[in-house]
Amino acid sequence: MRLAEKTAIVVGGGQTPGETMGNGRATALLFAREGARVLVADRVLASAEDTARMIIGAGGDAAAIEMDVADEAACEATVRRALDMYGRIDVLHNNVGIGAGDAPPHRVDVANYERIMRVNLEGPLLMCKHAIPAMREQGSGAIINVSSIASIAGMTNMIGYKTSKAALNALTQTLALANARFGIRVNAILPGLINTPMAIEGISAVRGIPRETLIAERDRQVPLGKMGAADDVANAALFLASDEARFITGVLLPVDGGQTLRVG
Ligand SMILES: NC(=O)c1ccc[n+]([C@@H]2O[C@H](COP(=O)([O-])OP(=O)(O)OC[C@H]3O[C@@H](n4cnc5c(N)ncnc54)[C@H](O)[C@@H]3O)[C@@H](O)[C@H]2O)c1
Repeated sequence: MRLAEKTAIVVGGGQTPGETMGNGRATALLFAREGARVLVADRVLASAEDTARMIIGAGGDAAAIEMDVADEAACEATVRRALDMYGRIDVLHNNVGIGAGDAPPHRVDVANYERIMRVNLEGPLLMCKHAIPAMREQGSGAIINVSSIASIAGMTNMIGYKTSKAALNALTQTLALANARFGIRVNAILPGLINTPMAIEGISAVRGIPRETLIAERDRQVPLGKMGAADDVANAALFLASDEARFITGVLLPVDGGQTLRVG
């Protein structure tokens, strides 16, 4: 019960449908298993409700809310809902990330690019903007932003995704320094290749290849032998959310099976 007595918002706590589990859902389930009361927020209400139902079915405490991180009023309402229900916000987990319609710089569609920036960068910023005042008042809080190793590793074909995640790293460090004296820790997880439906079903459909081919291709790139699972991201998030990480802030933590060690 590493999050006993704590409350959490998991933004993007539903998941893209598919055979495996998404990072946000796995994190919401693990937070709840470790004792947290969890508000599951997602653009797709049915998916957030599925996550909440899974938590409640396992004996945990959860509620679902429909929201779009690109909409500031929705971010504010999500924070308000958590405060109304729980009276405090101990953990804010910003899991939302999109890449659909992205392209290399010379083929960029500005509307797509701006949508990716709005969701991947300004979404977490807006959630932090509205959650931080309550955390400052409490004198404590843990914020986790789900970035990507794309933010620090070579990626030439998705300029919106890469630059939004790189900026999310900078946002994480800025928020960490600005809020340390209020007892608020802000860290980022940089997942590598993870076997989630958004990645596998999503990319295999775009590339028109069987999911098994894509899985084998991704596994080959990982020094530890194969892709990670959503649970690997969730376990890192649990640590960063828990008091065990009380002296850790501003960290950009790769969860990538060693992939970022490969240079050249
Ligand atoms: N899967 C990977 O290999 C991988 C690698 C690196 C980083 N990541 C990051 O992990 C995070 C989760 O990825 P995943 O593969 O589990 O994807 P996912 O699509 O299963 O989860 C994202 C959730 O966010 C929701 N969402 C999307 N846009 C939203 C919006 N505007 N407002 C509110 N909710 C919205 C989706 O409905 C979905 O439930 C993302 O930030 C992604 O960039 C994933």
